[in-house]
Amino acid sequence: MVDYQVLVNKNNSLGKDYVPDNLVEIHEPAGVKMDSNYVNKLDKFVYQEFKDMQSDALLCNYEIFVDSSYRSFDYQQKLFNDIVSKKGLKYALRYCALPGSSEHQTGLAFDVIVRRDGILISDVSEMDSELIWLMDNSYKYGFILRYPKGKEKITGYNFEPWHFRYVGRDIALEMHDSGITTLEEYIINKDIKRFRL
Ligand code: DAL
Ligand code: ZN
Repeated sequence: MVDYQVLVNKNNSLGKDYVPDNLVEIHEPAGVKMDSNYVNKLDKFVYQEFKDMQSDALLCNYEIFVDSSYRSFDYQQKLFNDIVSKKGLKYALRYCALPGSSEHQTGLAFDVIVRRDGILISDVSEMDSELIWLMDNSYKYGFILRYPKGKEKITGYNFEPWHFRYVGRDIALEMHDSGITTLEEYIINKDIKRFRL
């Protein structure tokens, strides 16, 4: 059984060979995929939850899609190396996890992309109305904004308004209602000692 509260961060890594066993491919409408060589995949149940959220967002005329989701250890390595070569190591460490320590390897996390008036916006900002909707509503579907503003020292990463993580509806609601915004703080608060997938 998948542990939807699993903590994967700079201090809790997954093995090189870890691959979730219930990934499903995500079929997006034509033109949405930015990278045609990359196939988006999420945990099967998480994808259902995402689709629920996506349909409700659409009722408000917000078009949200998955931009980047499951990444293998090797793919994360490639991504990390690319960022280091373009922006340097210091920048990379603030925005991109080292292979093994990325939540993307769990199949429980995704980066969002927005389509507005037919145009894809991958560089989403906290000021975008779609992101405001997600920040206000994603907990109802079991998601949290994983790297919030002001919590960089706790999460180890800069604010990422595009990265959402599934933790389950009950936990997301509990975090929302109690004002706990990071999984690290939730786990410390609850004294959860588990670490399993
Ligand atoms: N951008 C997040 C930290 C990752 O690479 O997993
Ligand atoms: Zn991400």
